[in-house]
Amino acid sequence: MQEFHATCIPGAEEVLCDELRELGFASVRLNRGGIPLRGEWRDGWRACLQSRIAQRILVLLRRFPAADESALYAGAHDTDWNRLLSPRTTFAVSAVCRGSALQNANFAALKVKDAICDRLRDETGARPAVSRDDPDVRVQLYLANDKAALYADLSGESLHRRGYRLETGEAPLRETLAAAILRLSGWDRATPLVDPMCGSGTIAIEAAQWASNMAPGLGCERFGFERWASFGESEAAALRELRGRLREEVRPSRPRIIAGDADAAVLDVAKANARRAGVRLSFRHSSIQDLQSGGEKGVIVTNPPYGVRLAAEPDLVRGVAAALTRMHGWRACLLAGSPEYERALPLRPVMKMSLPNGDIDCDFLAYDIP
Ligand SMILES: C[S@@+](CC[C@H](N)C(=O)[O-])C[C@H]1O[C@@H](n2cnc3c(N)ncnc32)[C@H](O)[C@@H]1O
Repeated sequence: MQEFHATCIPGAEEVLCDELRELGFASVRLNRGGIPLRGEWRDGWRACLQSRIAQRILVLLRRFPAADESALYAGAHDTDWNRLLSPRTTFAVSAVCRGSALQNANFAALKVKDAICDRLRDETGARPAVSRDDPDVRVQLYLANDKAALYADLSGESLHRRGYRLETGEAPLRETLAAAILRLSGWDRATPLVDPMCGSGTIAIEAAQWASNMAPGLGCERFGFERWASFGESEAAALRELRGRLREEVRPSRPRIIAGDADAAVLDVAKANARRAGVRLSFRHSSIQDLQSGGEKGVIVTNPPYGVRLAAEPDLVRGVAAALTRMHGWRACLLAGSPEYERALPLRPVMKMSLPNGDIDCDFLAYDIP
C-alpha cells in the first residue's frame, strides 16, 4: 500500500475529500493543505484520471528527521529512487520549508538533488540530468518542524489541464476550481444547470463531464508517472485497460446544461472547448439580464466579471443581482472576485467561503432564491 496525497486549491479540501470518498479511495482523511489517501500504485493512477478537484497526486517516498543539511542529504540518499529514476530520466526537485532549521527552500531542494545524483551515480555509474522545464520526474520535499517528507508527483502537468481548453476568454477559471464550486453548489447532476456568464465554458463543461461520469483525465495524453523509469510495457497495458474501463463508465448526460454569454466571440470559444471535451451543452448568446426561469427550477453557477473596470460598471452588478433574484426557487451560486455582488444582492447567502482564483481572492456565495 502506498500513501498518496491529493493537493487542491486552499479551501477546496472538504469537497475534494467528499469526491475521493465517493470515488472509493481508502483512508481518505480531511486535512488542511491536501487530502491523504492510501492504495496500490494503480489507485494513484486512478486518482489522476478520476479526480476533478485535485491539482496534483503525490506519492510519499520517505519520511525522516532532517534537523540540518547533512541529515537531509543522508535521508534523501537513503531513499530508493530506482522506481522513478534511471540515468536516462530527467528530474527536478522543489521544496517547501516551514518551522525548520533549514529555511531556504532552494538550498534544501539542491541538497536533495545532490543526494539523488550521488546515489544514482554510486549505483549505476551515471547520474540523471536535471530539467527545470519539463522533467520526467518531479520530486517534492516538504520540510516542516525539522521533519522531511519526500514525495514524487504522479500527475506531471497540473491536473487542471484537461486537454479540452485550447482557447479561453478573459479570466478563465481553472477547471479544478470550477469542479470544486460545482460540488459546493450542491447540484444533484439531474436538475438544470445554467452558467449565464460562461466565458470559455469551463463551469458548464465540467458540469456536463461530471453528470455523464466522464473521467476528466481521459483527455490528458500523458501523466507524470508514465515517464518514470519503472513504467514499462505491462504498466502501459494496465493503464490502457483502466482508461478503457473508465470510458465504458461514461453515460449520456441527463440534465440540461445551459451556457450563456453576452459576447458572441467568447461563446464560439466555449463551443469549441465543449466539442473537444466531448460534451453537449445548450448555448445562449444573451445577456444575464434576459435570464428567465421558464417555470423550471435548477441551479445557477457562475463567475461574473471582476477587476478594475467593475467599480465603474455598477449597472452590470445591479443587472446580475436583479436577474438572480428573479429566479424564484433556484439556487444561485457565484464565484465573486468583488464584494460588490454580495452587497447588491438583497438576500443573505446560505453559504459563503473564500476560494482563491489564482492570485485573486474570491468569495463563493450560494443563495436560495425565495
Ligand atoms: C470572468 S468571465 C467568466 C470566465 C469563465 N468562468 C471561464 O472559465 O472562462 C465573465 C464573463 O461574463 C461575460 N459577461 C459580461 N457581461 C455580461 C452580461 N451582461 N451578460 C452575460 N455575460 C456577460 C463576459 O463576456 C465574460 O465572458
